Amino acid sequence: MASGGGENNTQVYPPSSASQNGAYVTSMQQYKEMHKQSIEDPASFWSKIIEDFGFHFETPPNRDKFLEYNFDVTKGPIDIKWMQGAKTNVCYNVLDRNVKNGLGDNIAFYWEGNDPGDHSTITYGQLLKEVCKFSNVLKSLGVKKGDRVAIYMPMIVELVVAMLACARIGAMHSIVFGGFSADSLAGRMLDAKSAVLITADGVYRGAKLVDLKKISDDAVDVCKTKGFDVSTMVVVRHLGSKSVDNGAEVNSPTPKRPCYSLSTNMVSGRDRWWHEIMEGVSDQCDTEWLDAEDPLFMLYTSGSTGTPKGVVHTQAGYLLYAATTFKYVFDYHPGDIYWCTADVGWITGHSYVVYGPMASGATSVMFEGVPTYPDEGRCWDIVDKYKVNSIYTAPTLIRTLMKYGDAPIKKYSRKSLRVLGTVGEPINPEAWLFYYHKIGDGRSPIVDTFWQTETGGHTMTPLPGATPLKPGSCTFPFFGIEPAVVNDKGEELEGVCEGYLVFKKPWPGVMRTVYGNHPRYEGTYFKQFPGYYKTGDGCRRDEDGYYWITGRMDDMFNVSGHLLSTAEIESALIEHPKVAEAAAVAYPHKTKGECCYSFVTLIEGAEFNETLISELRSHVRTKIGPFAAAEVVHNAPGLPKTRSGKIMRRVLRKIAKNDHDLGDVSTMADSSVVDVLFANRPDVNV
Ligand code: PRX
Repeated sequence: MASGGGENNTQVYPPSSASQNGAYVTSMQQYKEMHKQSIEDPASFWSKIIEDFGFHFETPPNRDKFLEYNFDVTKGPIDIKWMQGAKTNVCYNVLDRNVKNGLGDNIAFYWEGNDPGDHSTITYGQLLKEVCKFSNVLKSLGVKKGDRVAIYMPMIVELVVAMLACARIGAMHSIVFGGFSADSLAGRMLDAKSAVLITADGVYRGAKLVDLKKISDDAVDVCKTKGFDVSTMVVVRHLGSKSVDNGAEVNSPTPKRPCYSLSTNMVSGRDRWWHEIMEGVSDQCDTEWLDAEDPLFMLYTSGSTGTPKGVVHTQAGYLLYAATTFKYVFDYHPGDIYWCTADVGWITGHSYVVYGPMASGATSVMFEGVPTYPDEGRCWDIVDKYKVNSIYTAPTLIRTLMKYGDAPIKKYSRKSLRVLGTVGEPINPEAWLFYYHKIGDGRSPIVDTFWQTETGGHTMTPLPGATPLKPGSCTFPFFGIEPAVVNDKGEELEGVCEGYLVFKKPWPGVMRTVYGNHPRYEGTYFKQFPGYYKTGDGCRRDEDGYYWITGRMDDMFNVSGHLLSTAEIESALIEHPKVAEAAAVAYPHKTKGECCYSFVTLIEGAEFNETLISELRSHVRTKIGPFAAAEVVHNAPGLPKTRSGKIMRRVLRKIAKNDHDLGDVSTMADSSVVDVLFANRPDVNV
């Protein structure tokens, strides 16, 4: 759902004096000066940031070698190094440093469970002890610096403990969102060669029970059939189960809700309960001092060729960038309460539930449940309960809540809210205005943050005390980001224009490689427009220099803020024995932003009917995960192709929208297929 930025959205919302009062950046003038310095003299700019935060470097960065890079594939391999040679540790900086600075008794997380009334808190001091213990556990399991540890967990405190324990000993965490299927989890473990998997017995999402252990078992079996053995599975007893303990309490930082329908099957020699393996382990663990450019984590994101890419982020640059964006974009001050609704399984959770907030010693809410359970007022109940000052969420949530009208919102005060954030997809002006007026009561600025798994942190975003807002625009670049808009030929466009959004220089949080596949990194992000990082998104720049993201320019689409590739869906569809060929395109969706519209060509003799449609839908869900629904399935006896056999997706997008203005179809091999497709078009109501 592209936001466009047309004539209807001319109203500008300048920062209120309340937003400016005490803000880190209080004017566009100040923003521009800081931005200019970040581009012209990155070493000075980021050194000052290090000093302001008081980040600890065991060996400080060398000012003369602060940034070394090649951003141009035509001149050699892409290579980006920030502060190489400096030694630090991200876990130390987000935990030990805060505790040493006297924040040990400050709450790091208010954990709010799926069911109202299920809650707990954990301080920085307590978290440090848990992390040290689990670091010792990982070491005892043979995990070493550079190893990849797979994490498939619900939104519970142990997830943060597991991540930071990896970071402490220099292992890379590879978190797989708990909504992915066994196949998706297996594919990621195989690619990363993750021999250790950390999971939980299960979780409730709303009223739905997700049997994480069973999915993990299935994923490990898939790995085995492909010749890879997962040696250890550590299982958090989050729900408890009949077969193990009749739901008896265990010592755990998150309360447990007994669930007798789980039948957790622990495989001897491979599976270990978290609470048992943690028992009696020392809560002291030395920090591993790592090079600034050693990897911190990998996180898979969809790729337009089908197989997900393991995006690699490194130590010091990522930390600086997550910390700085968090501080300035949410204008976080000590004592504020912050809540990011994203799951830690996505990059938003990595950067803005864990690393960014913790680097500021922030107090956050961590929410396990879903926003409409037990009712549509849950988010505002949480906001009032913890007096949340800034909330960070996705447009899809706002659109979902819009359906229920004002009543569930007005039931709560929401007076604590000061900054409203959004991420993941373009926010349509209607949703923006609802967020601003109904949820924020017209008091709080909206920070519409454009960024990606690959960018580590916000790249285009307003600053609450400085930027006049236009609904639907992500406004201006963050510090360190030098954007440009280029045309098909890679020529930079000036002034008002529309084209591809690219970045001209590395910023500290940019991904450094695709795990195990540097050529794919270069090919995806640097090849089409040499000298630039290609975001893959289109954008428009208006007469005031504001940027408006118009959506993906490739075969990727955004379902509820989650990036998927049409190729992933297609390969799942093609696996069905009755499908000969499949093509998927993005289609606008009222609440999810976009959804998947797929065309399937069946094998000879197969019948297209409701049973087959539901089989196909369920197959895609099983292959990828429940959030990846094939919303529309269109019977396509033939697909429009060029004479060389390439599927003409441009034409399919038009057919999906019932738009008969197909443009130039002179290269199409057989245009009669198009008439059949229009005649077969299903009723679409999404
Ligand atoms: O298309 C853009 C969209 O989400 C993509 C990145 O997806 P992912 O790596 O999963 O990360 C999502 C969370 C950072 C982008 O290429 N996107 C993200 N934020 C916005 C957005 N589109 C428009 N406006 C945004 N604020």
